[in-house]
Amino acid sequence: MKLICGQLIWFEGDPLRQGLGVARHLAHGAVLVNAGRIVARGEAAALRAAHPHVPAIDHGNALISAGFVDAHVHYPQTAIVASWGKRLIDWLNSYTFPEEARFADPAYAAAIADRYLDLVLARGTTTVCTYATIHPASVDAIFAAAQARGLRLFAGKTCMDRNAPENLRDTAQSAYDDSKALLEKWQGTDRLGYVITPRFSPTSTPEQLSALGMLWREYPDCLMQTHLSEQTDEIAWVRDLFPQSRDYLDTYEAQGLLREGAVFGHAIHLTEREKSRLAEAGASVVHCPTSNTFIGSGLFDMTLAQTLPVGLATDTGGGSSFSMLRTMAAAYEVAQLRGQSLHPAQLWWLATMGSARALKADHQIGNIAPGMEADLVVIDLASTPAIAQASARADDLWQAIFPTIMMGDDRAVQCVYVAGQQVMGKSSSSA
Ligand code: GUN
Ligand code: ZN
Repeated sequence: MKLICGQLIWFEGDPLRQGLGVARHLAHGAVLVNAGRIVARGEAAALRAAHPHVPAIDHGNALISAGFVDAHVHYPQTAIVASWGKRLIDWLNSYTFPEEARFADPAYAAAIADRYLDLVLARGTTTVCTYATIHPASVDAIFAAAQARGLRLFAGKTCMDRNAPENLRDTAQSAYDDSKALLEKWQGTDRLGYVITPRFSPTSTPEQLSALGMLWREYPDCLMQTHLSEQTDEIAWVRDLFPQSRDYLDTYEAQGLLREGAVFGHAIHLTEREKSRLAEAGASVVHCPTSNTFIGSGLFDMTLAQTLPVGLATDTGGGSSFSMLRTMAAAYEVAQLRGQSLHPAQLWWLATMGSARALKADHQIGNIAPGMEADLVVIDLASTPAIAQASARADDLWQAIFPTIMMGDDRAVQCVYVAGQQVMGKSSSSA
């Protein structure tokens, strides 16, 4: 057992739908952790008095939150982050596919998986949902790296059987067989979840989408992830490739890939039918704001969060940052451009509970509450002189946090706990 003390924030509900009153704060709080889980949260003095023999770690004025949850990433694109120029299809062909081809080498996949997880942990992200490449060993690499760090993590083999280089194509049958073998090997092992992963309709034939729909019917408890309506020329391409389909979403829906547990990345240029079908089906969408500005995709409509589970994500390496702080800042800016101001509490919720809920893991991660897994990030709200002087002006907690959201980076992340164990961090005093 241990007591982790500092300023606590947590949520009693969804501040986008239920108002800001569901965001909670204790200036002198503590989290009681045992065997990887949160046992209690409350006033530090009361918890210390009730548990006098439990060691306490005092983080002072630093903010203790649930670790960040990044709901859509491509860990194999770590090394090509911030590659200049191009829009989506060019960017995939010029940078992404050549890099993903390197994952034919399992040693390369293992090295990048380690590098990626170290980068995100240093930024306070404790769970990601990632695409691997078409190579089964790229899935083994990220799951093994997550397992070694004790992380809750979601991943799946990317499936593509057309419109990709020959060395990056599988078939409908091999995508089904390989995905099934990986699913049986990893789903539910430790804290790992398998995600059935057709990359997107342009790179999967209807036969492949159908085979993966069949696999999902056999394993209904796992997630399914793909891309939806990211760029207008991509949507036009889908229309050409699937003349029978009513719209982009229908290319998935027709093959059994639309229901609760489906996680659609981007979802920017949606028709009214697509919006209502996503909501009826209980599917999730994921907002990737740094990617959407970097690749020039468009401005996500946050009013979708009133009817659908919406997660937040970096979309590494289409996104230009590994940091969920930077991603919250971009979500704020994108919303401003649409006249939809997001409060810091709503941004923080999206980066924790919102993403956890989009991945159907909000009973395990994303909040500080008894019974939840003890994945925590400790944030220094005065990590640079510029942030410190702005934060010092604040007259409430959320104003004090906002400069860190807008200007913070890995220097703001003082310490990270995974399942109650400190995995990275600067010094903290014990008392
Ligand atoms: N659409 C299909 N594949 C990708 C990808 O790797 N990144 C992004 N941003 N969009 C995609
Ligand atoms: Zn993506």
